[in-house]
Amino acid sequence: MDGIYLDYAATSALRPDAVTEAVVRYLREVGATPGRSGHHLALEAGRIALRCRAALARTFGAEGDPGRVAFFPNATYALNAALHGLVRPGDRVVRTAFDHNAVRRPVAVLAARGIGETVIGGGADGSVDFAELDDALAGDGRPARVLAIPHASNVLGSVLPVAEMARRAHAHGSIVLVDAAQSAGHVPIDVMEMGIDVLAFTGHKGLLGPQGTGGLWVREGMEIDPVWAGGTGGDSMPAGMPDAMPDRLEPGTLNGPGIAGLLAGVEWLAERGIAAVHARETALKARLRERLASIEGVRILSPAAPDGVGIVTLTVDGIPANRLAHRLDREHGVMTRAGLHCAPEAHAVLGCAETGAVRFSVGWATTEAEVDAAAGAVASIAEDIRETSPGARG
Ligand code: ALA
Repeated sequence: MDGIYLDYAATSALRPDAVTEAVVRYLREVGATPGRSGHHLALEAGRIALRCRAALARTFGAEGDPGRVAFFPNATYALNAALHGLVRPGDRVVRTAFDHNAVRRPVAVLAARGIGETVIGGGADGSVDFAELDDALAGDGRPARVLAIPHASNVLGSVLPVAEMARRAHAHGSIVLVDAAQSAGHVPIDVMEMGIDVLAFTGHKGLLGPQGTGGLWVREGMEIDPVWAGGTGGDSMPAGMPDAMPDRLEPGTLNGPGIAGLLAGVEWLAERGIAAVHARETALKARLRERLASIEGVRILSPAAPDGVGIVTLTVDGIPANRLAHRLDREHGVMTRAGLHCAPEAHAVLGCAETGAVRFSVGWATTEAEVDAAAGAVASIAEDIRETSPGARG
């Protein structure tokens, strides 16, 4: 790749060769649709999809039937499917200020239809106020139906205390829906230990698959009403969707090549171990923070969050976030993401909802040399700003 890619929180633009090879192999040698037809290529496609479900379930620490993993095009579709499929008239959803628009907007759609919505605040250190959470879950005699938790914030990089939040949600009879878009593949997940009922994931970030992949893991005994309906390849006579997972949530042709690539990504991670990937990425994050913090004019907004994901979010005095990201790319080949990152409330928590910020995010292929070069690029731009507009000084 040409340049220094530090936008892994948006997508893992660099993927292990095994992922690319699996997609190409699928297109060249398999090509058929999983779960449709009985010929040998369709059966091979079905085997790949089943292996991918099983590998994902293992990655999430889920015991039991791999059919509890249903595929969707991305985490956003999966979250919409979960929220719309779990919530009924008269229900209420509790969510957090750390949410991505993938949760905030579907809940707003539901709220416009009369569903209750309670948003709990958050600290700039990524913390959650458990007393506020308890009050929100209890409601005014109407306990929440769903508590939606982002496992990791895509702006702060911190991980939320999911297990403790889930324990409190279950005490109120609420369903725990976790958005693992930023954590899956970066941070170990154990849905059983963490008390997760429904987990939404994307395939193209930490799990290293291609775009167009993602899904839901749904705990045994928890049923989600289908939002979308259509052909499922079997049990075709009834007009309604089948009861059995994953068909219940998966109308239409699956993304066979994407699923093959996602399987390769998840297997690649399993070989290295997600704990090892996490340790490496957090060490790179700490190194990046340290170097950036020593630059005059740099304001690091995201918390150190050593147990979190590899995100550092900042502003530089005297230059708007979008302009800084543009200069980093054009002058130094450093790719970051500027703006509100589809999570304006998280920016409000950090006090930068009006200005936005620049996010650096490391991933599996990031090197120490890249981190140092990126910090050097920021230092060079900050120095240039100080020289050309001295009023910008802190
Ligand atoms: N949600 C992704 C991000 O945070 C796209 O960049």
